[in-house]
Amino acid sequence: MSKKRVLSGVQPTGNLHLGNYLGAIRNWVTSQSEYENYFCVVDLHAITVPHDPTKLAKDTYTIAALYLACGIDLQDSTIFVQSHVSAHAELTWLLNCITPLNWLERMIQFKEKAVKQGENVSVGLLDYPVLMAADILLYDTDLVPVGEDQKQHIELTRDIVIRINDQFGQKQKPVLKQPKPLIREEGARVMSLTDGTKKMSKSDPAEMSRIEILDSPEAIARKIKRCKTDPQKGLEFDNPERPECHNLLSLYLLLSGKTKEEVTAECQDLGWGQFKPLLTEATIEALKPIQERYQEIMGDRDYLETILREGREKAELSANEVLARVKSALGYSTPL
Ligand code: TYM
Repeated sequence: MSKKRVLSGVQPTGNLHLGNYLGAIRNWVTSQSEYENYFCVVDLHAITVPHDPTKLAKDTYTIAALYLACGIDLQDSTIFVQSHVSAHAELTWLLNCITPLNWLERMIQFKEKAVKQGENVSVGLLDYPVLMAADILLYDTDLVPVGEDQKQHIELTRDIVIRINDQFGQKQKPVLKQPKPLIREEGARVMSLTDGTKKMSKSDPAEMSRIEILDSPEAIARKIKRCKTDPQKGLEFDNPERPECHNLLSLYLLLSGKTKEEVTAECQDLGWGQFKPLLTEATIEALKPIQERYQEIMGDRDYLETILREGREKAELSANEVLARVKSALGYSTPL
């Protein structure tokens, strides 16, 4: 039996933070041998908000190198850049013409980001989830491993599939395959270090709110030292009145590799002054091998370019086939 297909991606907007790592990439790595995987650097999504071209080019390579440094294995996985495979943009147009406008206006992330953009909201920002649907659907994807914040976009993708199959497919021969989200409970919602009720985010102007994968040990220590806590002694999971406490213990659990029972036993009588050095140490240790590998990969640009070229070739095989299937279902015929 052939393996199920997985596709996921990260936007090249700045460095990755612990939310991206623990909510997404770490899970890609852990389960990659079970699946046939496509991991994409979604650079077309990165221009849905104002961007700097020089930074976009640099960040695209950074993210590809971080995929490798975090442990993506090319035996099981294909790494590629979204804009290198033109089928993504082309399928987006076809899906645009099938997706009702009000489905997009309902998207939580659009509403949140639109508020920040004021008068400057681009059509691309509204259309962002349709491009994401195209990313997923071009690979006949079964599973999409993401953090909790992307769930609504995958539900939208599923609605688009139902609509296109109803309108243009035959019962025995759907045009597009129905994907499912794959969201692990632990790490699915890593919260800000300065406010445990807000998710950790690249777009938060406060740098102290997130730990980035490439942060130095000193920066990590400083951020944890200053992070928001509460006045209570004794640390506990799952108390809704102590969101920071739950978040920091969860980070410790994920980064130290300990179980919930072990962390509970270790931390239930600790004060913040005793716990913070433990979390600092676990974070530095977990990120150290990734940072070392990242430096090696970035030092060999040719290697990275070869991987992305081969990734594009492999991705195009699937993407072009699915695109041709959709075009044919919609009535396009291409003379040979
Ligand atoms: P992006 O770049 O915002 O985030 C990349 C991944 O990181 C997860 N994530 C988090 N997980 C837990 N806690 C957090 N605080 C946190 N912040 C981010 C996200 O859920 C995501 O899995 N639209 C997507 C990129 C995308 C994509 C796709 C994903 C484009 N096409 C196709 C999957 C499939 C995005 O902006 O992710």
